[in-house]
Amino acid sequence: MSEEIKYKIEKLSKEIEEHNYNYYVLSNPTISDFEFDKLLEELIKLEKEHPEYLKSDSPSQRVGGQITKEFKTVKHKYPMLSLGNTYNEEDLKDFDERIRKTGVTDFEYVCELKYDGVSISLTYVDGKLKQAVTRGDGDKGDDVTANVKTINSIPLKLRGDDYPKEFEIRGEIFMPKKEFLRINDEMRKQLIEEGYDEEEIFEKQLKNPRNATSGTLKQQDSKAVAERKLDCYLYALLGENFPFESHYESLEAAKRWGFKVSGDMEKVSSLDGVLKYLEKWDTKRHSLNVETDGVVLKVNSFEQQKYLGFTAKSPRWAIAYKFKAAQVSTILESISYQVGRTGSITPVANLKPVQLAGTTVKRATLHNADIIEKLDIREGDTVFVEKGGEIIPKIIGVDKSKRHIHHNDDLFREVSHPTKYITHCPECGTELVRKEGEANHYCPNELGCPPQVKGKMEHFVMRKAMDIDSLGEETIEQLYDASLIKTIADIYELKKEDLLKLERMAEKSANNLLDGIEASKKVPFERVLFAIGIRHIGETTAKKLAFYFKNIDALKNATLEQLLEVGDIGEKTAQTIIDYFADEKCIEIINKLKHHGLQFELSEEQMVNTSDKLKDLSFVVSGVFSKFSRDELKKTIEQNGGKNVGSISGKTSYVLAGENMGPEKHKKAEKLGVPIISEEDFINMIK
Ligand code: IVH
Repeated sequence: MSEEIKYKIEKLSKEIEEHNYNYYVLSNPTISDFEFDKLLEELIKLEKEHPEYLKSDSPSQRVGGQITKEFKTVKHKYPMLSLGNTYNEEDLKDFDERIRKTGVTDFEYVCELKYDGVSISLTYVDGKLKQAVTRGDGDKGDDVTANVKTINSIPLKLRGDDYPKEFEIRGEIFMPKKEFLRINDEMRKQLIEEGYDEEEIFEKQLKNPRNATSGTLKQQDSKAVAERKLDCYLYALLGENFPFESHYESLEAAKRWGFKVSGDMEKVSSLDGVLKYLEKWDTKRHSLNVETDGVVLKVNSFEQQKYLGFTAKSPRWAIAYKFKAAQVSTILESISYQVGRTGSITPVANLKPVQLAGTTVKRATLHNADIIEKLDIREGDTVFVEKGGEIIPKIIGVDKSKRHIHHNDDLFREVSHPTKYITHCPECGTELVRKEGEANHYCPNELGCPPQVKGKMEHFVMRKAMDIDSLGEETIEQLYDASLIKTIADIYELKKEDLLKLERMAEKSANNLLDGIEASKKVPFERVLFAIGIRHIGETTAKKLAFYFKNIDALKNATLEQLLEVGDIGEKTAQTIIDYFADEKCIEIINKLKHHGLQFELSEEQMVNTSDKLKDLSFVVSGVFSKFSRDELKKTIEQNGGKNVGSISGKTSYVLAGENMGPEKHKKAEKLGVPIISEEDFINMIK
């Protein structure tokens, strides 16, 4: 029996790795994602039941879970050198001549793209990934093996049987452009829900794929790495007694062993060939799903490489050519101002459409008044727009020479005036404010400024808030434009005959909508508190406040000191709460909502089960329980002031373990010294 299971695990592992290779290395999947997930699930289940057969190179390890508290520093066997940089044809000619002067005249170059990520050195022993180390200072780097194992295109086990017993392979780990955009998009949605404004979102988002890659690789929890789909191109093989004569040949072999080697490299026999390669990729690179910032030239023959040798810092047989950041100039036709859901104003440059790095650029954010002033940017200006590693186009300067016109024979005159930043809201006309220390202007008319009001309503009806899903963005717009709803409280005064007057609103939809509104009156207090949209109060903070103060009046009367006692609430948030309740109009809305029967206190059941006994404690709940469901336990943790976290780290206070908790979790908790408690222990804690 056990032999049979061992065999099954091995067979499944092999099958999964094969699909993994097809998908991530060859980009040629042969089964659906669903089928793949099923196989992986089956393997994970078998390994859980038979932990004795769990191998360190099992494909299940790619989902992560291992925590690295501190990355070990490792000395590189072969130092990780950098390359000399060149920026133009002239520099390349010099490089080519330097080689020829040494007597090496008959040689080939391999041209490769220079990937903009984080360089990594992988060590393989007996065909298995043993260690992954970052470049560090070139001499010593960080051991990031656990994190690198989650990267699907990096083989844990090699294919074929002609690989050397021990070798290193180097390459670049990167975050694909699409993944970068996906993460930022998700982050943005989450931050909007939590009430952050555009400028704060911009600050918090990932800045560029390279930064994002290095940040991700330094995560302590490898599960977090697995969630961000990093990728890796390998471009150099290092070791002793290789049977290859050239770099190109060695990479072909690496490809056979299962490594992802770029198909975009080319062998050329002269500088002319190099220049053709540069020309081809100067624009084509923008259509790749990976950021590139140049081309790397390498002398192909290993013997010639050896002869040419190294300077103190870099090889004499290789050089990097850096692409100029894609840049164009265009006319700034106008500056417009957007008002966000939170009232924050973002100035936007409307440009004469121009092609840049494969896309048409029409707009670029100008961020805030300071930036406009610093660049002295004016409508009608000719501006330089750049698209570097940031993906989002950026205005980097003004061509001031174009601002002068020929006035008469010898006089040039400036025809524009410095931009005057708007003083009043373009949507509602209210005078803007700018708080000390903040870069952004705000429209303070929270309850009367159309985008702010509509935004508040969209937030209010969200699934995680009042969950009135039949009230979508479009209907809100219609109702608002028809003056049927001016505040969130008006939603509860909507009548069927009002609704039927709207375009595309049939009897059935109207009934649905009214039913949804009625049902929302039962939504518990903590979600109502989140729904009313106090700035900086996200879902989690709302829950904490609700369980701490138990009803809205206690929260309304809370002092700054009391608010600061609630875990994780800082001064800024506390002050926003105080400001909110000091505003008569806000109080009026709350009173109306109360009158309509919304929940503004914890239910009796919640009251009974509520305390702050678990304040400052965090729990990982795992396994199957006998008295309560996992969700009930999680809710109880929150109601008693505790926090639920997804995975075990050194900071976790307890692991609440039921039946069938995974052996890996068990091991991890023990390793990190996190106490494991049972359902009974937990019930005793809150008694
Ligand atoms: S070869 C001896 N090839 O560029 C130098 N490097 O300063 C071996 N890079 O740190 C590097 N793409 O992180 C090489 N196709 C490529 C590359 C590449 C990106 C990075 C690498 C290195 C830096 C050069």
